[in-house]
Amino acid sequence: MQNDLFLRACKRQNVDRTPVWMMRQAGRYLPEYRAVRAKSDFLTMCKTPELAAEVTLQPVDILGVDAAIIFSDILVVAEAMGMTWEMVEAHGPHFPHPIRSRADVDALKVADPEKSLRYVMSAIETTKRHLAGRVPLIGFAGAPWTLAAYMIEGGGSSSFRYAKGMMLDEPETFQLLLEKISTTVRLYLEAQLAAGADAVQIFDTWGGILTPEAFRKYSLESIFSIVSTLYREGQPVIIFSKGANHALKEISQIGADVVGLDWTVDIDEARTLIGERVALQGNLDPSALYASPEAIRKEVKIVLRKFGKGSGHVFNLGHGITPDVPVEHARAMVRAVKEESVIYH
Ligand code: CP3
Repeated sequence: MQNDLFLRACKRQNVDRTPVWMMRQAGRYLPEYRAVRAKSDFLTMCKTPELAAEVTLQPVDILGVDAAIIFSDILVVAEAMGMTWEMVEAHGPHFPHPIRSRADVDALKVADPEKSLRYVMSAIETTKRHLAGRVPLIGFAGAPWTLAAYMIEGGGSSSFRYAKGMMLDEPETFQLLLEKISTTVRLYLEAQLAAGADAVQIFDTWGGILTPEAFRKYSLESIFSIVSTLYREGQPVIIFSKGANHALKEISQIGADVVGLDWTVDIDEARTLIGERVALQGNLDPSALYASPEAIRKEVKIVLRKFGKGSGHVFNLGHGITPDVPVEHARAMVRAVKEESVIYH
């Protein structure tokens, strides 16, 4: 690996500057992404390894980030388990037949990712060949609770009426759903690692909308069931539970190497709390990228200063980059991290 800063920081080993990548870095803010996307729909891109590899590499070439993340989506797992969904333009994912009953859960299968998600593994293999060791490649999956929320709601939601309804009214059905998803996600992450992923991240986008009790009982417990049994050969695991700042200590104790932070938490406080056990990833406010390059640099410096000296910091946004951010601003963030972080190492 020519640039292993990301992997070294995940393991809290010495680095000469802080590594940086961005969640959702392969996406619509890049004109080069939009050019590929104009010719094929989203799922076709996910299922065509050459296209997935092409857009995975774009931010490495254009921004100079220290890690690539495989272009795909957390919801491909739902399809592998037997559901259909589509990405509705300017709206988001839509499932015509959401999971609402015990019979729906019984009908879902635990997927064999080497069969039903083979296209992701092929995309990883193709991307690794193209990367030729320039930077590490991150694989990923959705956390069971976040996937269950999409599968039950049938798409995005503001109230999570159906998902929380099932959780409270039919806890056994809900638990069974989480178990089926957890097994699939574990097998899926193992397949990604076997295909060449150098690290994996679990995205728990909706972790923060649960009560602390429900978060621990359902989301954290199911992530733990994955991480504690995941077969890996030293590749780092990153857990990002957006908004679950009340549970940082518990999250740091379940066997991950890195804990992702959203922008509403002080990274210095997080470091004091859990920095002896895990590396931290984050946590610039994604909306800071709408400001000028000068202001972006100031905000980058604040995050770096707050983390302070030493390794164990992977610079990232506190959530995904948004589609209307100017590319120049994303590049300014990467440049600022590379230049301003040297003094901390
Ligand atoms: O980070 C990367 O660049 C790798 C690719 C990636 C995508 N989705 C591509 C994508 C990753 C890691 C994801 C994860 C994902 N997908 C999450 C978890 C991370 C997060 O942002 O919270 C979630 C919740 C999803 C589900 C999803 N995918 C939604 C709700 C949407 C629609 C909203 C939106 O941003 O458009 C997507 C679409 C999506 N996933 C796009 C991309 C590049 C845009 C689709 C397009 O090109 O039209």
